[in-house]
Amino acid sequence: LKRNVTRDEKLFAICELLADEIPSFSWVGFYLPDPEGKQELVLGPFVGPSTDHTRIPYGRGICGQVALSHETFVAQDVHSEENYLACSTDVQSEIVVPIMKDDEFVGQLDIDSNTKNSITKEQRELLEEICEFLSDEF
Ligand code: SME
Repeated sequence: LKRNVTRDEKLFAICELLADEIPSFSWVGFYLPDPEGKQELVLGPFVGPSTDHTRIPYGRGICGQVALSHETFVAQDVHSEENYLACSTDVQSEIVVPIMKDDEFVGQLDIDSNTKNSITKEQRELLEEICEFLSDEF
């Protein structure tokens, strides 16, 4: 009998799958809204090098901007972004996709790549589908 799998375990499994299947993804993780209602993101399950950015105020960096805009953000060259938080100097491009549930922002999927201009339309569509599907977990 399979025990119940927690939401965080599912999120971690998705990180592992994406990191394994798409070699250009160097870091794959989720940020979730602070459970106490502070306007900050809290780092959730992730795969990749550990990051200093375990909490990100809304509005700061690409992640913080998505927490406010609720729109997918694709940065094909992170160095041309004015509002960007570097996790690793190797990162060149990044995509952040919000997870929405009934118009409420419940989390986001953040992916880094060490290659410039590497986020494809197909990847964006796949990640947006995953986030839509994950909405049911929240
Ligand atoms: N680069 C992000 C910070 C999170 S790390 O990529 C894991 C940003 O600008 O918000």
